[in-house]
Amino acid sequence: MANSILVGAQWGDEGKGKIIDFLTEQADIVVRSQGGNNAGHTVIAGSKKYVLHLIPSGILRSGKVCFIGNGVVIDPVSLVEEIEGLKAQKIKVGKNLVISESAHLVLPYHRLLDAQKEAQKGKKKIGTTKRGIGPAYGDKIARTGLRMSDLARPEVFSAKLKAKIAENNKILKACGEKPLNFKAVNEAYLAAGAKLKQYIANTAVLLHEALGQKKEILFEGAQGTFLDIDHGTYPYVTSSNTTSGGASTGSGFPPHRIDKVIGVMKAYTTRVGEGPFPTEDDVISDMLHGMGREFGATTGRARRCGWFDAVATRYAGIINGIDELSITNLDGLDGLETIKVCVAYKLGRKTIEVPPNDCDLLAQCKPVYIELPGWKTPTENARKFSDLPVNAQKYVKKIAELTGAKLTIVSIGPGREQTIVL
Ligand code: GDP
Ligand code: IMO
Ligand code: MG
Repeated sequence: MANSILVGAQWGDEGKGKIIDFLTEQADIVVRSQGGNNAGHTVIAGSKKYVLHLIPSGILRSGKVCFIGNGVVIDPVSLVEEIEGLKAQKIKVGKNLVISESAHLVLPYHRLLDAQKEAQKGKKKIGTTKRGIGPAYGDKIARTGLRMSDLARPEVFSAKLKAKIAENNKILKACGEKPLNFKAVNEAYLAAGAKLKQYIANTAVLLHEALGQKKEILFEGAQGTFLDIDHGTYPYVTSSNTTSGGASTGSGFPPHRIDKVIGVMKAYTTRVGEGPFPTEDDVISDMLHGMGREFGATTGRARRCGWFDAVATRYAGIINGIDELSITNLDGLDGLETIKVCVAYKLGRKTIEVPPNDCDLLAQCKPVYIELPGWKTPTENARKFSDLPVNAQKYVKKIAELTGAKLTIVSIGPGREQTIVL
């Protein structure tokens, strides 16, 4: 399988967790390199459902090693809960998990500030997951963050935390928020730190060794292309590089040692949170929500839904260098007579085929649709491409062609067996 990066080609929740779990069978190591517990990756294995937030989805398969790289922001208390939750589900977590000593910490003031900033923005809010992601990355970039290596040294951690809490309490107080109690936060974080110490290492060096041993490494993207801090619908984005380049900086793995990029996209489009979404549509939204689908794995919010947007995914292909495509949730379209696909945008009188980077302009774009015939047949039991109704085959081939990459996987249900390899 070689060394591969898997990224979301839309606005997140493309089904990355499911595809990572499927591909992990052939990999040795799975690496998360950005984001935090804003991510929610759902994997159904047999009759069990797992939702991973910080731990790579590869943890569910025995014999695989999972890395949390330097580019990830970690809420230690929440990570301990996730580890314990997995153990309660009979998943082994021990030497198969390694956490970068350079990964930054998410602290309670980050979460409170995230909520405060959102409240102050009012109608212009981003619709964050309120996990403190933006403020934690803010501290990292401002060079005032705390890292896993600090947490591993209680005295160093406590001194740094004390100063940070004093500084942030002034801000919280000015916002009308209750100040944080240093002692309580310190105790909770040190307790989590004591449990996490066994996993902390220099992950970049371990990845380098794995490279020398010809291990196959799979980088698990979180969020999606249009939530990227640089290439997404700024400011309605997350605070990390969700596109393929982030996998290298977020892990210390050299870019020229990566062999391919796999893009995951739904057969339609969804988005959680605010911000422009040109193909958003009530018809498909009501249909999917009516089927009990498209509710968020992290916050439980109903996802906004729309038609497949080839303008967006083609751009995702360019930014990420997508070589291979996995299309998920094809079964979500089973009931439709005809299906719309956006092939261009109208911006005023102009027809454009590249999404504007300015989100105000993107919000003004009107989709230009083609319509493709539906198949009105359940697809969930298909196991080979030829089992799919002919119109479903034509649909996935068309959206892959419009995106500009080779179609290699079609997913027709959340289960492992509901995965068709081309
Ligand atoms: P991620 O964040 O990209 O890993 O995606 P999420 O797990 O947040 O959301 C994808 C949802 O779709 C999850 O509930 C998956 O179990 C589910 N899923 C993935 N692929 C398919 C599919 O082909 N069909 C159906 N019905 N569900 C799928
Ligand atoms: P996975 O990995 C979908 C969205 C939030 C919000 C914006 C900023 O499961 O695909 P943040 O809390 O990161 O500051 O929120 O980004 N968002 C996601 N949307 N899937 C995700 O992760 C997301 N992680 C963040 O809804 O719009
Ligand atoms: Mg998700």
